[in-house]
Amino acid sequence: MEKSRIEAALARVIHPVKERDLISLEMIEDIKIEEGRVRFKLVFPSPDALASSIKKSCEEEIRNEYPGEDFKISIMELVRERKIQKRINLELGQEAIANVGHIIAIASGKGGVGKSTVAVNLAVALAREGYRVGLTDADVYGPSVPKMTDSEYEKPLVDDSSGKDMIIPIEKYGVKWMSIGYFSPPAQPLIWRGPMASNALKQMILQVQWGELDFLLIDLPPGTGDIHISLVHDIPLSGAIIVSTPQAVALADVEKGVNMFRQKDINKPILGLVENMAWFTPEELPENKYYIFGKEGGKRMALKFDIPLLGQIPLVQSIRESGDAGEPFALIDENRPDTIAFRKLAQNLLKELE
Ligand SMILES: Nc1ncnc2c1ncn2[C@@H]1O[C@H](COP(=O)(O)OP(=O)(O)O)[C@@H](O)[C@H]1O
Ligand SMILES: [Mg+2]
Repeated sequence: MEKSRIEAALARVIHPVKERDLISLEMIEDIKIEEGRVRFKLVFPSPDALASSIKKSCEEEIRNEYPGEDFKISIMELVRERKIQKRINLELGQEAIANVGHIIAIASGKGGVGKSTVAVNLAVALAREGYRVGLTDADVYGPSVPKMTDSEYEKPLVDDSSGKDMIIPIEKYGVKWMSIGYFSPPAQPLIWRGPMASNALKQMILQVQWGELDFLLIDLPPGTGDIHISLVHDIPLSGAIIVSTPQAVALADVEKGVNMFRQKDINKPILGLVENMAWFTPEELPENKYYIFGKEGGKRMALKFDIPLLGQIPLVQSIRESGDAGEPFALIDENRPDTIAFRKLAQNLLKELE
């Protein structure tokens, strides 16, 4: 079987209301031909009453293309509302994010709480829900996205056809990634001064060819210094997510993060808190929860600062291992209590944005 023939078959399926074929409507994605099976995504830009009859027509046309042959057809139906609103009041130099729906900063008061782990897995989980997602690794001091996505040796290309050099992000796992780590040899710590770091960081957002995205996540460096303030002030954020571990001592760090976004001249909404390492779950006993850093810490923090608790991520050995291997944990398909944590986080975020 050939992809081009599957496309030709799907180009014969006409959407009865839009009176155009599914290929030209860009409703077909990721056609994959496997042993005895054709697989693709059927993407609706909004909930569609005709979905099941269109799906049936797809199957019929593919069968017509290969009469008498025995194979399976797997169609993943999804609704991806194109919520992109052109941003108004964009400043000069912000064209790169003109077609980005939501820009969301992922912040934490201090390092090592799993901010990058949460950011990378949330990006993958949103992509798996059918959204178009980009992530920029703004941690200029310790970029970790290249390693966490096993793309350390990628070198992004530059497109200058618009008259301005635009960096083309690295695409992997259905997400567009950008990191300062792609521009320096791996394992070499970067030494940046304040304004230089701020500029480098803004380039990682504003000089990247993002195209149309539903979400652009920004993995901020830990802390709440000048670099953060300058970024949070200049980029039109939809809001921020704060990552913390549940210990009582982390409360002060969460407070710093919350205060940064609530400063008068910044005033960006905090979409919620993610409690990482909320409990420990051993691999062989996935139903068991051990509250080694205390129970309900995240809930208490969220209550104290009046922000939603968007998600609780367990401490699981394979989350660390998948980070080191560059294959995000959120790619796992099984329905285990630990593997659904990032999916639930993505779904809660979507609800919060509504
Ligand atoms: N829920 C978790 N379970 C297991 N290991 C985790 C979890 N979250 C983070 N880690 C590990 O902790 C370390 C620090 O995480 P990282 O995301 O780099 O933190 P930060 O970006 O806040 O500095 C990494 O080795 C990561 O794999
Ligand atoms: Mg990090």
